[in-house]
Amino acid sequence: MINCKRSRFTLPPRLTYLNCAYMSPLLKKVEKTGIRGLRKKRDPSGILPADFYTDSRLLREEFAKLINISDPKRVAIIPSVSYGMATVSHNLKIGRGEKIIVASDQFPSNYYPWHNLCEETGAVLTIIEPPSTLSGRGKIWNERILDAIDSKTRMVAIGNVHWTDGTLFMLEAIRIRTREVGALLVIDGTQSVGALPFDVEKIQPDALICAGYKWLLGPYSIGLAYYGEYFDQGRPIEQNWINRLNSEDFEQLVNYQPLYQEGSLRYAVGEQSNFIHVPMLLKAIQQLNRWGVENIQSYCQIICEKTLASLQQKGYWVEDNRYRSSHLIGIRLLDHNPQKIKASLQKNNICVSFRGDAIRVSPNVYNHEKDIVKLVKVLSQ
Ligand SMILES: Cc1ncc(COP(=O)(O)O)c(C=O)c1O
Repeated sequence: MINCKRSRFTLPPRLTYLNCAYMSPLLKKVEKTGIRGLRKKRDPSGILPADFYTDSRLLREEFAKLINISDPKRVAIIPSVSYGMATVSHNLKIGRGEKIIVASDQFPSNYYPWHNLCEETGAVLTIIEPPSTLSGRGKIWNERILDAIDSKTRMVAIGNVHWTDGTLFMLEAIRIRTREVGALLVIDGTQSVGALPFDVEKIQPDALICAGYKWLLGPYSIGLAYYGEYFDQGRPIEQNWINRLNSEDFEQLVNYQPLYQEGSLRYAVGEQSNFIHVPMLLKAIQQLNRWGVENIQSYCQIICEKTLASLQQKGYWVEDNRYRSSHLIGIRLLDHNPQKIKASLQKNNICVSFRGDAIRVSPNVYNHEKDIVKLVKVLSQ
């Protein structure tokens, strides 16, 4: 069990920040690491060829630990989810009449690539809607996804949780069904990895793509992607020098090399060695591994569950906790006036997001139960 970690961050004292799904605050030590990285370039003579590789290797190793994979070379450093998904769409073999399945209202970076690919190839983008009733919503939505997977399906691209309201998608069941029909399973882990345990060995996705600036507690503009065997001989979306075999030998760089580095390293972005962002994200994921993601999820559950449950009697609706996570929770307003609620949250210095028809509340280890009590009090007025 872990306790509140607010003192490790620099959040303003009177701010109730319940918005990690928007962006995490920085750990003090991650901030320090970033400043050290920035200052490194004061004297470039101190930046050695080995520095282009060392921290990025450590970062891949640390992420491999977080998602439970044995080969860190299956991890590529990427700048964004859209970049990681572009690699998938560049390599997915799909033809006319075949299907890509997504859940409705997915984040655009996990929608546009498939929309465009389907337009180019004549494949069909199948969007699975939740039921219109709230009762059993998560369960029925999951069943609809499973029912839609058939022999024409080439890929399911989905999050572990829905980014607007935290609805859990049952990845193990989706994996079994996709396997039965020979379809890929591609996960956007941005809103879950780092706060909700994710085990690649157990789920066996074909790709897992994560932005770094939310639950991984990293800076903006760096993320991480795992690619499985399907992508082993694939084509990267760009051709950069560092992804070629033996790029470590700077004197031989113009002896152009047809082969790539091992595993998924061919998919890492150009200038992946970013001397500011890489050590920052490394430091953040080291901390997550030390705390343990299971403990982070339990912590969020402990500070939220009892208090949030009382909202049901105040005319709000929250999904059954078997079909949602505890770090990202959609509170549906039902008959409440969203403009009034927005104004009173703002007045009370409570920071959450409004997404679709829900308030998205996304706590993390810097929150305390009293933050949730304050939120519920304001919502109940
Ligand atoms: C589920 C999800 N995926 C991805 C992103 C970010 O995508 P990108 O890195 O392409 O900007 C977000 C940002 O809110 C998100 O919620």
